[in-house]
Amino acid sequence: MIALTGAGMSAESGVPTFRGLDGLWRNYNPQELATPEAFAANPTLVWEWYDWRRGLIAQAQPNAGHFALAQLEEKGPFVTVVTQNVDGLHQRGGSSHVIELHGSIWKLRCMGCQRLHSDLRAHLRTLPPLCEECGQMLRPGVVWFGENLPPMAWEASVEAVSSTDVLLVIGTSGQVYPAAQLVPIAKEAGAKVILVNLEEIELGGAADIVIQGASGEILPKLVQ
Ligand code: OAD
Repeated sequence: MIALTGAGMSAESGVPTFRGLDGLWRNYNPQELATPEAFAANPTLVWEWYDWRRGLIAQAQPNAGHFALAQLEEKGPFVTVVTQNVDGLHQRGGSSHVIELHGSIWKLRCMGCQRLHSDLRAHLRTLPPLCEECGQMLRPGVVWFGENLPPMAWEASVEAVSSTDVLLVIGTSGQVYPAAQLVPIAKEAGAKVILVNLEEIELGGAADIVIQGASGEILPKLVQ
């Protein structure tokens, strides 16, 4: 079983979503904060935004939805979580097979030597942070608009959804590609698609079952 998750999964943990009424993209322009061009133009501004989000996420706890997916593993089926979230809450909630399609806010990558650094502190000491190895600037270890997904994460996700019986699509607006493409890929390979979302969303008519409600309420019941 595969769970494809988005920002709605972490909403009940207090992590803001991107679209919708309270979404981050209502008040912030993604072109100014989440593109390689934005980072090149103003790295400190971009880092301030990511550092603010690190602070929010550091205070957040996994919610009942995260725990339910982790519990599902114990019940028998092999569960792979393919997430667009960068917050690490699935892992903290106990899920053991998590593919981070959009990277992680707790990782930083050196623009010079390309080394990947892990830093779990809520706030970084200096903005922008610098690589301890080579002194070059570090960037957030996330995927920005206009960038490719990490190839191994994408290939593993395609492989997983191509051979699953069930794809649970939880808390994502399905508007961002290529992540959203995983739904038709799963569908064409014969998976049943179950949609869990607070709102009534379409997803190209791919859903076999639609459950409208908050993931923190629905998932524990589904697992039960
Ligand atoms: P969105 O903000 O686009 O969508 C969040 C979805 O979650 C919406 O469909 C909401 O209806 C739903 N939702 C909100 N609260 C919920 C709850 N408690 N239970 C269930 N559903 C709930 O977030 P994503 O689809 O994850 O990428 O966005 C995809 C990507 O766009 C993100 O990874 C990010 C963003 O720009 C980058 O920054 C590259």
